Parts: sequence; C-alpha cells; structure tokens
Amino acid sequence: MSPKALLAANWKMNPVNAGDALDLVKGVLPASTAKPELVEVAIFPPFPWLLGIAEVLEGTTVKLGAQDCFWEISGAYTGEVSPAMLKGWCQWVITGHSERRAYLGETDDMVARKTAAALANDLSVIMCVGELDEHYDAGRTAEVVTGQVRAGLANCSADDSARLVIAYEPVWAIGSGKSADPEHAYKTMRMIRKTVGELIGAGAARKVRVLYGGSVNASNVEAYVELPLCDGCLVGGASLNAEEFTKIVEVTAAVYAHL
Ligand code: PGA
Repeated sequence: MSPKALLAANWKMNPVNAGDALDLVKGVLPASTAKPELVEVAIFPPFPWLLGIAEVLEGTTVKLGAQDCFWEISGAYTGEVSPAMLKGWCQWVITGHSERRAYLGETDDMVARKTAAALANDLSVIMCVGELDEHYDAGRTAEVVTGQVRAGLANCSADDSARLVIAYEPVWAIGSGKSADPEHAYKTMRMIRKTVGELIGAGAARKVRVLYGGSVNASNVEAYVELPLCDGCLVGGASLNAEEFTKIVEVTAAVYAHL
C-alpha cells in the first residue's frame, strides 16, 4: 500500500454536454482537493472535455487523464489520439479497459503497445485487467489475469514502475452492482503483484500501484481501500454523481488517515 490512496474517476462516455462535465468536475473538486496528502484524485473525462476541465483543474492537486490513447505519435491513423498530444494537459491515461477489449476488439498486444507508448511520453498509466464471469465461474481468474498482466507489460521495464498502475477490474463486476468479494479482490491483487515482480523485479514492483475497480461506491469503498496491497480504486458509475464521489473520497481519506 502506498502512503496515499489513488482514486481514479472513469467517466466513460459521460456526460454528453460540456456544461454538465464542467459542473461535475466543480462538484467533486472540494473533496478531491481537501486531503491531497491522503488521497490523490485523477479524473478521466471523454476526450472533448479534456481541455476545458484542464483549465478548471489548473493549480489544484487533482490530476487529469484520458481514457485511451494510440501507440503511434502522429500519422495517418484516422480518429486516433496520440500520447504526445495528451501529455500537454494530461498526466494519466487508461489502457486496456474491458469495455475497449469487448466493444473495440482491443487485444493484449494493442494494450501492450498503448501502455508502452504512453509511458514513453511521460504519462502515467492505469492498465486494466480482469476476468470474464465465465472465467471466474471456472476458477480461471488467476490464469486469465496473469496472462493479461504479462502480455500488457511486455514492453515495460523497471524504470516505468513509479508511473505504472494496474487496475484489477473483474469484468462481471463492472457496472453490474455486483462488486467483487474483497477476499477475491485481495487474492487476485496479490497475484498481480507477484507477476509484476517476476517481470520487472521485486524492488521495482513494489513501486507499481494496484487498484480495485468494479461497482465501487460510497458504501463498499472502505472494504477495498483498507485491503493490504490495495492502493485505491478505479470508480466508474459512482464518479458521475458529485455527492457520491465526494463520499468515496472522504471514506478513503478516513481509512488512510489511520494507516
Ligand atoms: P463501475 O466501472 O464503477 O461503473 O463498475 C468501473 C470501470 O469500468 O472502470
């Protein structure tokens, strides 16, 4: 566990209007800036809102991130956004989110290329991994998640460790209201850490942070952030409600205040 928690707010393809996006970021700002020594908050809005939100966040402790990036720097890649374009105003990028794997056909190889490109462009990365429900039911979580970690970090080295975060998000828990049993989350996060250690060395792996994600809300966040080896949460749906996200930040700060 790092001395402060990381709470990442993944807004996904919401809100639809710029005004609502600005209202949301202003709504979560007071709590998100209240205890920066205990909780680091990073917000991941859709691409079109990044610039406007960067202006609101300027001079605050809250960091900004993109939900995806491409692996090339420039060129004939219609519709793609390069990490070099993002680094002017973003500090973070998410790679390998299960919705991109499921709806956009992202493979482990693409996730590895995006992760490496983002790191090479001075961005910090949250790389998402997680098993499908059929994997969970078949007891294959360890095999699937370990495989995604190994493949996704194929181009990474120990030098990347301080800017690398792995989010364990069981796919069956995302947006379903069925958050994972903390014991299952703990065991899987422990295995993720062991795998990262095998890849980049135990010393460097200690600097890599591991998050839990999947139906995190104000009522269950405590059970995850108090887990040993858990460095925070990736929050989707609950980050779209300023009041709910405020409570999530407050609960997390209270847990970390007692560590
Ligand atoms: P959720 O999403 O909190 O709505 O389950 C988490 C995520 O997909 O990052």
